[in-house]
Amino acid sequence: MEGVLLRRAAQLLGSARRVVVLTGAGISAESGVPTFRDGLTGLWARFDAQRLATAEAFHADPDLVWGWCEWRRARVSRAEPNPGHLAIATIQTRVLGSTVITQNVDDLHERAGTRAPIHLHGSLFAPRCVAAAAHPATFEGTSDGEPAQPHEGRRIPPPRCASCAALVRPGVVWFGEPLPEAALTAAVEAAVACDVLLTVGTSGVVHPAAEIPRVAARSGAAVIQVNPQPTPLDQVCAINLRGTAAHVLPALVAAAWEETGEE
Ligand code: APR
Repeated sequence: MEGVLLRRAAQLLGSARRVVVLTGAGISAESGVPTFRDGLTGLWARFDAQRLATAEAFHADPDLVWGWCEWRRARVSRAEPNPGHLAIATIQTRVLGSTVITQNVDDLHERAGTRAPIHLHGSLFAPRCVAAAAHPATFEGTSDGEPAQPHEGRRIPPPRCASCAALVRPGVVWFGEPLPEAALTAAVEAAVACDVLLTVGTSGVVHPAAEIPRVAARSGAAVIQVNPQPTPLDQVCAINLRGTAAHVLPALVAAAWEETGEE
């Protein structure tokens, strides 16, 4: 990765007053959590999204969908935040006007110390009653605590809601479902108001999340991308840093505050 590009990005980040960081599956790749669309390793190269990540799939075979989410939750629970997650938590402490937005359903940002990241696509740690999301999160059967170490594709019956005995569903946003309104509104507002947006480890093909960097660019912000591969977001970015999150972000953060003479 060119040093010149990193220094320019560091200058922008180091002097920013409002920063948005948008992350995708790539930020967790170096923690051992598979991405969705990367070659053979991506989840969608190995599993059928239509059979595992839609409301129809859950209604057709809840045990398969629940089992698969428990497998993903088990993998995430065994993973640790990487230097990329830690660097983002540092940005949040350095720039008080910063907002972290993630498409990821893992809890690695929180475990790295990031406060209140906006989860656009929900969370594997927020299951809820199918009948009424307002029902208290108390369930009969397995949901919280250590996942049952299912191997991929094993069927596990979802728990039942303690209030109404309806099925409990994973708290993730499935294909064809709307994003949580409050999260999306907060994300768009932060993108409109920021002066620098960092987009990290997303392929930029899933909307409306992929719109966020474009909203920021249209509002005059400098968009910086961290991704080892080119994406459709390249053309809205002022700087494309070709590298992995765990390598590029710590270097960027170190350079940014070195640039401003703040240790
Ligand atoms: N560091 C940075 N970027 C990486 C790394 C890494 N170590 N490894 C892979 N990447 C990049 C890939 O080049 C790719 O552009 O991360 C991106 C991952 O893309 P996807 O797998 O498509 O993940 P994402 O963009 O988060 O998907 C969006 O799609 O399947 C749905 O709901 C799911 O939130 C997800 C959404």
